[in-house]
Parts: sequence; C-alpha cells; structure tokens
Amino acid sequence: MSFDFESSPERRHTDSQKWQKYAGRDILPMWVADMDFKSSPAIIAALQERVAHGVFGYARPVKSTVDAVVQAMEQRYGWRIDPTWLVWLPGLVVGLNVMAQAFAQPGDEVLTLTPVYPPFMTAPKNSARISIQVPFQLNAAAGRWEIDWPALELAVTPRTRMFYLCNPHNPLARVWRREELVRLGEFCMRHNLLLCSDEIHCDLILDALPHIPTALLGDDIARRTITLMAPSKTYNVPGLGTSFAIIPDATLRAQFIRAATGIMAEVTNLGFTACEAAYRHSEPWRQGLLQTLRGNRDLLIDFVARELPGVKIEAPIEATYLAWLNVSALKLTDPIAHFEQHGVGLSDGTYFAAPRGSHVRINFGCPRSTLTEALARMKRALTAR
Ligand SMILES: Cc1ncc(COP(=O)(O)O)c(C=O)c1O
Repeated sequence: MSFDFESSPERRHTDSQKWQKYAGRDILPMWVADMDFKSSPAIIAALQERVAHGVFGYARPVKSTVDAVVQAMEQRYGWRIDPTWLVWLPGLVVGLNVMAQAFAQPGDEVLTLTPVYPPFMTAPKNSARISIQVPFQLNAAAGRWEIDWPALELAVTPRTRMFYLCNPHNPLARVWRREELVRLGEFCMRHNLLLCSDEIHCDLILDALPHIPTALLGDDIARRTITLMAPSKTYNVPGLGTSFAIIPDATLRAQFIRAATGIMAEVTNLGFTACEAAYRHSEPWRQGLLQTLRGNRDLLIDFVARELPGVKIEAPIEATYLAWLNVSALKLTDPIAHFEQHGVGLSDGTYFAAPRGSHVRINFGCPRSTLTEALARMKRALTAR
C-alpha cells in the first residue's frame, strides 16, 4: 500500500499553531514539531467512525486501546508492561510538570542535559523547583554529541531529586546507545535520583538502531523510572492531546496521580480512538513515513554541505524529523529574524539553551517540495547577508 507523503493539505487559515505564527506573511514554518502530512488513513477512518457515533461523553480507554499500547511495547521493544502501570495524560509537557510537583519540593533540583526541548528546563521552574543544566559536549572527531560525565557528577547536590532524559534526543536527533543508558541509570541509582525518560520520539528512528526504553535496563532502574510516551509525534496527532506515563512502581504511580488530581485534563474520546488506530493499524504508514523522512534528512544534509557555507550539521541525524544546525560561522546577531526575512521560520537555539546566534532547529517533517523551497530560501538568505 502506498501513502501520500508528497502533498500536504492547505494548512494556512486553519487552526494550525505552526502556520498561524506567520499568517499573512510569506514564511514557510519549519519550527514547532508537527508534520505537514495527513495522519495515517487508519487513524482518519477510526476517527470518522467515532465521530459518526455522535456521543462524546467523559472518556475511559476500552480494553482494546490499552491492549494496543501494551502489545506495541512488547512487539517493538520487548518491553512487557502491566496495564496497571499506564497513566493517561493529555500531553507529555503536562507529565514533565506533574513530575516536578510530585517528586520534588520547592527549591529541589532537577538535572537535564542541554541543548534540550525547553519544557525540560521550564517544568521545574513552573513550580519553584530548580532546573540544573549540564551541556553536552561535541566530540568533533567522532561526529557525536556526548554526555560530559565529570560535569554531570559535579552538578549533583544534596537537593538533586530527578534527572530528565530525552530518549531519543530533541534537538540533537541522537539515539542513546545501551552503554550510555546503563551509565545514566547507574548514575541515577548512585545519587538516588528518579529518572524521567521522555520517549515521545521513540518510533521515529531513521537509522538501523534500536530504541531502548530506559526502564528496560533492569529492575532497579525500572523502579525509579517514569517513562513518558505518546503516538502524537510519530502519527502526527499531537493536537489530539493523548499521551501516557508508564510507571512500574506502585508508590511512585500513586504519588504521580495524586499530584495530577483535579488539575490534569482527561484524555478525550477522539484521542483514545486515534491512539488505538495508531498502534494497532498504522505500521505500514509509519514505515512509509520513515522512508520519506530518511529521504528528507539525506537531502537536507547534502544541501547544507553543498549549498549553505557557514551552516554545519555537526553529528548524524539518527532520529526525529528535527535537525540541529550550527549557524555560528554566519555571525548573525539574530539568525531567526534573518531567515524569517528571507521566508523561512526556524526554531531559535536559545530556547534549547544554546548560546545566542549559535544554532537553529529545522523541522523536515514536510513534503519534499516544501523542504526544497525552504532550503532554497535559506541559500538566498546567506547570499543576502
Ligand atoms: C521531547 C519532547 N517532549 C514532549 C513534546 C511535546 O509533548 P506534548 O505535545 O505531548 O506536550 C515534544 C514536542 O516537540 C518533544 O519534542
């Protein structure tokens, strides 16, 4: 079966956050992480059927929805989860915020590695917890971003309670290897830290590398790990607000649920429907998507190397549809404004804790024609400096 990854429905004048940002301006939005492709036909059909039912009362997942998630974990990663470990969430960012409130007191510290998806840093701060950030190090010879282990050790204080891990990593597009995850797990055990593993991008691995759920590394690590996952990024349904935490430890699970009670919105009927259709019926579509994303990634790497002098991709793009571009050689005081002036809307590296002017992030989850046009505009932006 073939799927259409070459065209996109018109998203201008719709409720799209990504496209509304530049309403009325000729700027291609290559920023926030949703894709311009239609979701899988199986999801669209399931939603249409659910809408035709016509009643949208308070929702609970039916057994087949829970089973779809449980089976996906086992089939994809060999991870046998108990259905009782699942806590449904309206979004992963909600999960990051609930965790900070559930497992740390005001003034306690939450460690993370930067650059990173901004809510990893803002979630602790939102409730007067403290975000401690340790920068990754670029091993230029190996072409790899690496954890600065000595700096990580030094960052731990008596008030450090948790570690927020992005697995695979946004924005570095990095898939963590087993030995790195094991070392991180040991680090968390040694310092008695809880480990929050955000695995929202785990079904978007582009290279022949396995996704290793952090909690699968051993019972000791699983007991202190809260995994956050969702069908949202992979199947392009983030606007349906359906995610889940997997919390094997009953005490942590109860603490998490207590912290969320009364303030966390419930997942909707349509969200559960989309979730089941994603995990149960959308694998052929996902394979087609991955093939398209690999092609886009290769085109991007090639174009940057040949046509965008001063822009550098420092390490392989192993996962996600997001690429981290070093633009420091361009010496632009405001790279985002400069590229916007030439018709491309990128994400500002400073949001991810990169130094001003050093990096931007581009979203290549779009038809090839959109990416090609965006890159041509970036080329013009360089010559217009
Ligand atoms: C690592 C990571 N976590 C969470 C999210 C957003 O999750 P949600 O929309 O479910 O809050 C994103 C979105 O880009 C992300 O990259």
